[in-house]
Amino acid sequence: MANLIIVGAQWGDEGKGKIVDIYTEYAQDVVRFQGGNNAGHTLVVGDQKTVLHLIPSGILHEGKRCIIGNGVVLDPKVFLEEIEGLKKKGYLQDDRQLMVDGAVNLIMPYHKRIDIARELKSGAKKIGTTGRGIGPTYEDKVGRRGIRFADLLKPETFKRKLHEVLAEKNFYLENFLDEQPLDEQEISDEYLGYAEKLRCYLGRASTEIDRAIKAGHNILFEGAQGSLLDVDHGTYPYVTSSSTVAGGACTGAGIGPSLITDVIGISKAYVTRVGEGPFPTELHDEMGERLRAAGHEFGATTGRPRRTGWLDIVALKEAVRTNGLTGIALTKMDVLNDLETIKVCTAYKHGERLLEEFPQDFDILRECTPVYEEVAGWQSDINAVQKYAELPQQVRDYVDKIEAWTGCPVVLVSVGPRRDQTIQRINPFAEKN
Ligand code: GDP
Ligand code: IMO
Ligand code: MG
Repeated sequence: MANLIIVGAQWGDEGKGKIVDIYTEYAQDVVRFQGGNNAGHTLVVGDQKTVLHLIPSGILHEGKRCIIGNGVVLDPKVFLEEIEGLKKKGYLQDDRQLMVDGAVNLIMPYHKRIDIARELKSGAKKIGTTGRGIGPTYEDKVGRRGIRFADLLKPETFKRKLHEVLAEKNFYLENFLDEQPLDEQEISDEYLGYAEKLRCYLGRASTEIDRAIKAGHNILFEGAQGSLLDVDHGTYPYVTSSSTVAGGACTGAGIGPSLITDVIGISKAYVTRVGEGPFPTELHDEMGERLRAAGHEFGATTGRPRRTGWLDIVALKEAVRTNGLTGIALTKMDVLNDLETIKVCTAYKHGERLLEEFPQDFDILRECTPVYEEVAGWQSDINAVQKYAELPQQVRDYVDKIEAWTGCPVVLVSVGPRRDQTIQRINPFAEKN
């Protein structure tokens, strides 16, 4: 039995979707536990690319159960479009493959409007959100005025809750954000129109997971975003509004921490970030452009160019600690193929002080400059390599150094976007079977 959590170890887009797709081969159930359609997880099978925003990345494997846990926030329109897209491609032919917890909070039209209008109003101080209504939805969840997935299936409850909340939302939209108010009937008609199509997916994550564990299943918990975007442990306030670290899997799916067997953090061989906020190793030069071009670093959700920089060990150690990582999966190693030398940040300089730990204080973090070590590049194409021993010595040296710096084993190296471009060193599922 293995219950494995996959999290992003940086600022998102580390390649979580690809790794979840790979590991789904060894699991029977895949569970999303936080975030919403701010996520964009890319899977490449053969030459076919699929981007998933809400549905767990195990969905391309026939018969594997995909569960959307209570910690997720869900936009029903986006969810139905995603289902339709998958069905058209020949996936998800049996609706029983997919389940949504009744306690999932719904992203409502006012959440999206507030998100976008607030960003506009903030000007230079904006967060750079995805504009999908994520923050405002989590605010309402914690503020106990959220509308849940199960409410949508009870029209009278849905209408009552919408009526109770909309007056306040419209007041805020009109009087603070200078926006148009929203029409209650329109929202009600639109959302209740989705309800019957969604009814078949209603379930309860916690009991379903419990049953699966008792039946001897291996379960994969798929994180969205990344550890440095965590609402508590990330670069606040430039974060998302959910618990992206491994602990979030327990609250967001209803499983106790004692049942988790492994936590794998996904890290690129360099770093990217999309949206605003501190990024100590960011490159503003030609090298940054080179990484963006070689890695096709444009957002899978918004299409925005991603900011790029060298691998940051100080930040990665933060992810190792806040998640209790038992392994690192290193992705996009092939993007560094052409480089003569590769820089890695092993500490920060703040004034005269050398920092080896990621500062919690935002002002200090902003003033930090990276201290780099240089490692040799391999200057060859590794995209077709299948065995770890066949990777150039310089690649293996880079991996050894990352293990030594972080104190965490590198269990997998990814050398391209496709399934067959994956080199597993330690298989966390195989070990448990
Ligand atoms: P996620 O949000 O963490 O699932 O990552 P995204 O899908 O947003 O971004 C990762 C991008 O890198 C996608 O376009 C993937 O197809 C691609 N990718 C994943 N692993 C590799 C790899 O090892 N090499 C290359 N070149 N691309 C990769
Ligand atoms: P995946 O799962 C990268 C970023 C946004 C913004 C901040 C807050 O594909 O790795 P939000 O819309 O969540 O309120 O935006 O978080 N962000 C992501 N960056 N990958 C993601 O998801 C992200 N989801 C949100 O760019 O900086
Ligand atoms: Mg992404």
